[in-house]
Amino acid sequence: MKKILMLGGTGFVGRHLCEKLTQLQWRMTVPTRQEASARDVQMLPALDVVETDVHDEAALTRLVTGHDAVVNLVAILHGTQQAFDRVHVQLPQKLARACAAGGVQRVIHISALGADARNPDGAPSMYLRSKGHGEVALQQAGLALTLLRPSVMFGDGDKFLNTFAKLQKIFPLIPLASSHALFQPVWVQDVASAIVHCLQDEHTHASVGQTYEACGPDVFTLRQLVELAGRFSGVNQGRGRVVLPLPAALGRLQARLMGLVPGEPLMSLDNLDSMTQPNIASGNLPGLDALGITPTALEAIAPTYLGPDGGGWGLRSNLTVKRKNAGRF
Ligand SMILES: NC(=O)c1ccc[n+]([C@@H]2O[C@H](COP(=O)([O-])OP(=O)(O)OC[C@H]3O[C@@H](n4cnc5c(N)ncnc54)[C@H](OP(=O)(O)O)[C@@H]3O)[C@@H](O)[C@H]2O)c1
Repeated sequence: MKKILMLGGTGFVGRHLCEKLTQLQWRMTVPTRQEASARDVQMLPALDVVETDVHDEAALTRLVTGHDAVVNLVAILHGTQQAFDRVHVQLPQKLARACAAGGVQRVIHISALGADARNPDGAPSMYLRSKGHGEVALQQAGLALTLLRPSVMFGDGDKFLNTFAKLQKIFPLIPLASSHALFQPVWVQDVASAIVHCLQDEHTHASVGQTYEACGPDVFTLRQLVELAGRFSGVNQGRGRVVLPLPAALGRLQARLMGLVPGEPLMSLDNLDSMTQPNIASGNLPGLDALGITPTALEAIAPTYLGPDGGGWGLRSNLTVKRKNAGRF
């Protein structure tokens, strides 16, 4: 039995990963800023929820100590330059020092597709630049490190397809910025399986020092994904709403206005900046297949959690879906 510290384990990926590690009967520690956020995982056996501040380096060192490995899932999607720096760069720096002090070598860090540790500042958004600098911080620390860079993830509880499905239940028309942006969505369970695989390869250490691009089998435009979310959730008798692509200037105005609404924005200017770069596998790095995982198609899963009765609106859409070999490298 292993003992894993999972930073950000209360989130979308964390919840799925906790379930997988529970099946393996491993022990887990999941820190959270607020115990209430851990309600989906705290009932799992062999899982300890700890309310703490992971940015406090002394507290982080105490947390790390005594674990066999750390999985870092902490991230934000929106925020200021300072907030991205604190969460995506300073926290990995603190984690590296905490691991050295606590005698833990093995770290699995979840970054994002589009981050580039060789040229972090070349990325188009604060989110991606900070993710790249976070990768560098961990790579320089001499850890037994594996980096995973997922494209956008879908699955039960996602904030991506679920949000677009909910919007179509409310509004008759969906004005959409960056509608041509490309994504290669990956099933959250495939990403969780990849993390488990990395944690288990203690005999071959094949994943140590590696960076993997975690992508699904198909490439979609943002518009296609919004349309699929509408159809799979049964909106407008399974036809979904009409999507109205916005010209770039209007899209930026929309994102600016959304940023003024209190709470987590639906879309920020920084998100639009991220989408100027195709969120698809580069082909230069190993993919999920290098970890023994065949990526699952979105159409096989999304109807099971978006649809009121598990879908039934025609699984293979007539949309143009480009097959892409996510595993070339
Ligand atoms: N979801 C996607 O489509 C996607 C795509 C590409 C990459 N990724 C990456 O995959 C990883 C996991 O993503 P996810 O979707 O599971 O994220 P998530 O659902 O937003 O969960 C992130 C967790 O991090 C913790 N957290 C958030 N802000 C924090 C802060 N300022 N300080 C400390 N802890 C904080 C939260 O825990 P508490 O609230 O309990 O403290 C939260 O549960 C991230 O690195 C993300 O960038 C995700």
